[in-house]
Amino acid sequence: MGKWLLSVLALHGVLIAWLVLDPPLAPFMQTADGADETALLLWTRYTARISFVYFLFTFIASPLRGLMGGLIANATTKFIRQYRRELGLSFALSHTIHLGALIAYLTSGDYPAPASLLIGGGLGYLAMFLMAATSTQWGYTRLGVNGWRYLHKTGIHILALIFAFVYSGKAIAEPSPIHIALFSALVLCYVLRLIDFFRKRSRQ
Ligand code: HEM
Repeated sequence: MGKWLLSVLALHGVLIAWLVLDPPLAPFMQTADGADETALLLWTRYTARISFVYFLFTFIASPLRGLMGGLIANATTKFIRQYRRELGLSFALSHTIHLGALIAYLTSGDYPAPASLLIGGGLGYLAMFLMAATSTQWGYTRLGVNGWRYLHKTGIHILALIFAFVYSGKAIAEPSPIHIALFSALVLCYVLRLIDFFRKRSRQ
């Protein structure tokens, strides 16, 4: 587990170094309209982007392995499925850093957060922290199989919907290649999950 959490801290360390040192990569990572944005806003934004990568692998871990009757069951899909708990907890650590960044950003100046963002985002964090707290044998035993499954299925879909809401909005408002790619990646994962869902159902 340590290596996974270290990978999160390493990626966030690189992000902070970039924000502090502002290397030549800046043009690649700015928004399409090149607007001058505060380092705190960029920190808030890119912490969520790092979390998104861990989230996508967590979201796809089980369905990927079973897809097409196991046709694409290989070392990679086995690895992702085997470490889905580590991926999930890495997402939770990364997104806790997003929480720190957004608090720093929202309290740094006149950036009022709309109630919908606080309620929707707050629900997302509630689900994330409950899932992280129960990603242990203790949590599994406490909740029981059905309770655990219900919490983790509902929680992961709440988080996926928030990502879908944010990235569909960004892909429409600022249709830059990166926003379209991020949204398309989530749509692809949803489609793969749906295929797996109907495949399992047709077998029942
Ligand atoms: C109370 C809770 C939350 C607040 C106040 C909040 C606030 C913010 C702010 C201010 C930004 C930067 C906006 C910009 O890019 O212009 C942001 C970006 C983002 N947040 Fe949060 N957030 C919260 C929770 C969450 C949750 C729970 C998720 C996902 C499950 C999430 C996903 C994202 C994503 C995907 C981005 C955009 C990253 C990008 O551009 O790639 N946020 N958030």
